[in-house]
Amino acid sequence: MSEREQWGTRAGFLLAAIGSAVGLGNIWRFPYVAYEGGGGAFLVPYLVALVTAGLPLLILVYAIGHRYRGSPPVALRRISRPAEAIGWWQVGISFIIAIYYAVIIAWAIRYVGFAVTEQWGEDTAAFFDGFIGSAAEPGMISAYVPGVVWPLLLVWIVTLGVLAFGVRRGIERANKIFIPLLAILFCLLVAQAVTLDGAAQGLDALFTPDWGAITDGAVWVSAYGQIFFSLSIGFGIMITYASYLRRRADLTGSALVAGFANSSFEVLAGIGVFAALGFMAFSDGVAVDEVVESGIGLAFMAFPEIISTMPLGALFGILFFVSLVVAGLSSLISIVQVVVAAVQDRFGISRTAAVAGVGGGTAVVSVALFPTDQGLVVLDVVDRFINSYGIAAASLVLLIVVAWVLRRLPDLKRHAERYSSIPLTGWWIACLGVITPLVLGWMLVDTLREEFAERYGDYPLQLLVGLGGGVAVGVIVVAVVLTLVLRNREVPALPDPDETNVDEGSR
Ligand code: ALA
Repeated sequence: MSEREQWGTRAGFLLAAIGSAVGLGNIWRFPYVAYEGGGGAFLVPYLVALVTAGLPLLILVYAIGHRYRGSPPVALRRISRPAEAIGWWQVGISFIIAIYYAVIIAWAIRYVGFAVTEQWGEDTAAFFDGFIGSAAEPGMISAYVPGVVWPLLLVWIVTLGVLAFGVRRGIERANKIFIPLLAILFCLLVAQAVTLDGAAQGLDALFTPDWGAITDGAVWVSAYGQIFFSLSIGFGIMITYASYLRRRADLTGSALVAGFANSSFEVLAGIGVFAALGFMAFSDGVAVDEVVESGIGLAFMAFPEIISTMPLGALFGILFFVSLVVAGLSSLISIVQVVVAAVQDRFGISRTAAVAGVGGGTAVVSVALFPTDQGLVVLDVVDRFINSYGIAAASLVLLIVVAWVLRRLPDLKRHAERYSSIPLTGWWIACLGVITPLVLGWMLVDTLREEFAERYGDYPLQLLVGLGGGVAVGVIVVAVVLTLVLRNREVPALPDPDETNVDEGSR
């Protein structure tokens, strides 16, 4: 068996893990979720979610990747043959997220240029719709949007280029540039935002606790959902990244550093975003709650408006959109690596062939589907379904299988403790065996209930069921079929953990 690639240093692995975690979810999702979920009071469900689910799961997937040294299908098959399907399911989720995540980065690239001259004019929403060439109604694809094609191609060239250089020379090096750069850009951005008129009201709106909110189950569901997406758990990334760790590693210590770095960035993003929204409310003479937005509306409509009104707006705009690009790229690289590594490991092909074939194929689907008049609709529906029913469901099934069916938690606990600076206690098993599965099950039921109560985004039912439901179920079907097809194709035996790479890993 050829030597598995490895991270050069522990810091390199940590930067890559943080680069994966810190992404669009931190910048445009967290501030809104926190605000909606009771502001300062949201920190309670958020921290509970981090401690009872985020960190324990992060340690679990680090332990799986490190112990079984493979991307999700290989690592899980080494635990138990049928479990390979869960691995492919996670790979499928990553594939789906990759194809649309890339297009948001492509938009942000164009917006760096637009920010220089504040090209969006007065009506930023109309400008955005015009720029992405969005059709008024959902339907068949009937137009291609060249203005989105070239930045999207650029995103894919950079991503696949980095992956082609491999784990140490590609991913690790890129993150050594991306993460410090992102930290500097974002600190400058936040520093500029908090000096704006009205910033204090924005921060007040974000942090004033509404304790009533935390008695609402939906707020807890969104806190757990945020932690999962934000920490990149449930789509195979951390199993893959941990599989490149040297034998002598610090699993719990790394999970704590990555988890808290991600949350710190999230809170920083909340401060920056709400200071800017406070300024917008101040300029318009309205209350902050009238200007609050998230996601695409926040980044590509509200922020351009803020940029046009504020002093040194172009500078702020460039800082904001370059931050989105950098945060997005480091996450996209990790998402695509899951797909590339799975095929590379499972079919024993070279990295170059996997990047060209599988990475290239992912890029082709992304470029064919999203720079079109239906791109936004497809993105919105697919994102909703893969987030709600993919990430949470795949994590739930993984936990049920590993904890209850195969009863591997004690073994993985021993492994994690052996390669850790901080010992795990019984809380780890309790969280993973009981608390997290219960919360995840509840999350799924609650989201399904919401689905029936109100049609998401007012889209036609056929579109939601056909496209959204189709994608969420489709990845499971493909995963099961692949596992069946590959059932007689053995994976290489696991090298004896005591003999492999006991070297200077924790430099
Ligand atoms: N964890 C990544 C994000 O927050 C995927 O965007």
